[in-house]
Amino acid sequence: MTIKANRKQNYGQYFTSSSITEFMVQLVIDEIKSKNRLKNLDFSEISTLEPAAGDGAFIDALLSNGFKNITAYEIDKDFHKILQNNYGNKVRIKNSNFLEASEEEKYDLIIGNPPYLGQNYASEIFQEYCHKYSICQEYFCGNMDLFYWFIHLGIRKLKPGGLLCFITTNYWIQKGDKTGVKKLKPHIVSECFLNMYVDLSNLKVFREAPGQHNCIFILQKKTEEEKIDRINKKIEIVQFKNVNSFKEYSNEFQYDLDGKISYISAITNNNLKINGNWNLLYPEDVEEIIKKIEKLCADNSGKVFYLKYFFQIRNGIISIKDDVFILKENDNLLIKKGEFSVKIGKKFFKLNDFEKKRLKKIYKSRCIRPYSFNGDDYLGWMIVFDKREFDSKPNEARKKYPILLKYLSQFEDELKKILIQCKESPNNWMFLRRGIKIHKLRDMKGLRYLEHFYENEKKIFFPYISKENIFGYTTAPFYATSDTYFLHNDGLPADFDFLIAYLNSKMMNFIFNAKGLKIKRSKSKIENCIPIPFPKTLKNRKQREIYEEITALSKKIVNRSHSLTEAKNRIDALMFDLFDIEVSIIDNLFSTYYNL
Ligand SMILES: C[S@@+](CC[C@H](N)C(=O)[O-])C[C@H]1O[C@@H](n2cnc3c(N)ncnc32)[C@H](O)[C@@H]1O
Repeated sequence: MTIKANRKQNYGQYFTSSSITEFMVQLVIDEIKSKNRLKNLDFSEISTLEPAAGDGAFIDALLSNGFKNITAYEIDKDFHKILQNNYGNKVRIKNSNFLEASEEEKYDLIIGNPPYLGQNYASEIFQEYCHKYSICQEYFCGNMDLFYWFIHLGIRKLKPGGLLCFITTNYWIQKGDKTGVKKLKPHIVSECFLNMYVDLSNLKVFREAPGQHNCIFILQKKTEEEKIDRINKKIEIVQFKNVNSFKEYSNEFQYDLDGKISYISAITNNNLKINGNWNLLYPEDVEEIIKKIEKLCADNSGKVFYLKYFFQIRNGIISIKDDVFILKENDNLLIKKGEFSVKIGKKFFKLNDFEKKRLKKIYKSRCIRPYSFNGDDYLGWMIVFDKREFDSKPNEARKKYPILLKYLSQFEDELKKILIQCKESPNNWMFLRRGIKIHKLRDMKGLRYLEHFYENEKKIFFPYISKENIFGYTTAPFYATSDTYFLHNDGLPADFDFLIAYLNSKMMNFIFNAKGLKIKRSKSKIENCIPIPFPKTLKNRKQREIYEEITALSKKIVNRSHSLTEAKNRIDALMFDLFDIEVSIIDNLFSTYYNL
């Protein structure tokens, strides 16, 4: 099997603008000049490799900056021809697959933009490469990207002290061991220092790859002594404040110094996890504040309490088929003067009082507001039966809900089919699939049914996709679909009034930014990262008084006896007092790092 056809797809052909290649070459030159062992070499002596040369964007930048000893690989014969014509007399150009290159030939510098190609989208290519090339077999991992192999082989081909500078997508930086980086991060951490990380996520770097987020990184291969001595090194970070930082002028991006910030990350090389997220955008001055916050969330032994000590986070409700289970007003549901009628066939049938109670207003996460939710913005009325009622007294239950059962039975075959396809029992066709009961709670064995929780318990919830800290709260009935996360208090007893104020505060917004917290579908790990102050961790009377004042204000917001904005501003100020942090310091950190 060989790769032909769509080259853009199979070869990951996206091309780097000259301002980026120039920027990267300058970064590398600065590295070489400042601290690297290469600083004693003349540029012309530095052996340099471009592993995926395309039409030579990096070769241009290297040559114009005095690099002469250059080797380039390009798999595509058309590009190879162009490279040969343009640079054939100055550069060693190989028309072959870089992944078959010998590991024996080592370089001082490797620079480029390797091809990006997700394994899930091109499994045949990955199979072919694994079969042919030992490096691919050694480092293959499900969900990986083609450029990971370029990093692996790049590391092997670096001389000790040598530098590797690539521009890639940035998703791998945040990934953990259950994803494709299982072999990549351990390899990098054991063999290299991460000297620099340039976050390009605010910039559109490749016009043909919209929505893609990129980064540039510089690795330095460790010497044997550095490995043995477990030498640590700081990581330099560069960020760009806004999309205009690389301005577009007549098809070229110009690099604008005003948009650039640099700092040292609080995460050092020895902190880099071999199997987890690298939260690199974490300035040292931000870390100082986070440490102060965490101190107030620690008991006398220094143990910091996080959200996970109190709560489990679970999604809302999933039905077998929303179109069936969610009745829509003026469509298949009529509500008049408190009477409910449901459409079966072409006719409407009135529900009895038991049945009315089985219809629950169902919400999506868009209705969530700080401290509350918009009660008018419901999706429809969801049919919520309690399976236990049908299990214990099936005949009685069936008699109790005649119309709703008649309505549902129109779809019985279809619903059973869906359950069978999902490898679930077809007998459950009348019931909701998920989010109506919960397993694995800490404070009780077995299952907990959630109807009581949704009806009238204290509930904190938040949307499943959000960069901000918006947390809703209610004790009123609130049923929501699975795009809403609920906090289930199954650990330490939670002080909901304080918590809802804390979670919606400016302080929490700072914590979200500092810890890089983003709420994403099913991947939220915020429970591990949010430190929680509670009476046990407060150290003195002043703190307890402020805590009480915040709690009292929060209650007023919840009871709507106080204007939200006014009380929220007051709570924000009190929260800074509680943690003994100057507002101006937080404002400064926001404007330096986060208002990008
Ligand atoms: C993302 S493009 C970058 C091109 C150029 N370095 C630039 O930055 O403009 C990747 C290049 O690698 C080439 N390529 C893809 N797979 C390759 C491989 N296994 N070995 C060598 N080159 C490869 C593609 O044909 C493409 O030209």
